[in-house]
Amino acid sequence: MGKFQVIDHPLIQHKLTMIRDKNCGTKVFREVVNEIAMLMAYEVSRDMPLEEVEIDTPIVKSTQKTLSGKKVAIVPILRAGLGMVDGMLELIPAAKVGHIGLYRDHDSLEPVEYFVKLPADIDERQLFVVDPMLATGGSAIMAIDALKRRGGTNIKFVCLVAAPEGVKALQEAHPDIDIFCAGLDDHLNEAGYIVPGLGDAGDRLFGTK
Ligand code: URA
Repeated sequence: MGKFQVIDHPLIQHKLTMIRDKNCGTKVFREVVNEIAMLMAYEVSRDMPLEEVEIDTPIVKSTQKTLSGKKVAIVPILRAGLGMVDGMLELIPAAKVGHIGLYRDHDSLEPVEYFVKLPADIDERQLFVVDPMLATGGSAIMAIDALKRRGGTNIKFVCLVAAPEGVKALQEAHPDIDIFCAGLDDHLNEAGYIVPGLGDAGDRLFGTK
């Protein structure tokens, strides 16, 4: 089973409380989502492989560590996942960015991929799938299905707020992936919102209703 981790760093918890507040406006919401994503990037990249290189310091020749060229892609689930991309790129600037857009057909209730654009070599990349809210887990499961169908193997899911129902569903569907969140909330309400949550992350990021 992949790991499930709540990243409970004080800076992240403070910023998460800011964006949960319904009086937090679009500008601050967007900025703080990116700040949290940047702080989370530090933790979710903790097991990136290192290799040794020989360098010249101003004093001596020395063997030191450097990232071993492991390639990364950040894959936001449209639309709310876009809000986390710039923050993650702050810390992993060479990452490629793929996009996955999904909707559920109203009649068949079957998931439909309406947009998938990924780096060609996703089988060689560490993939960070990002979406602020892990609610039922439906879109996360579909997005990871879509990546695996195209050869993705090394996948981590990164969200801000998770519902226990979503974590369970995602772990059951994809037991091999690691799941990271900033907050694990109480439950989903009958409308599918996370409680206490922060409302509709996409609407709050983009100022829509
Ligand atoms: N998606 C959101 O944006 N918010 C929720 O609470 C649940 C799903």
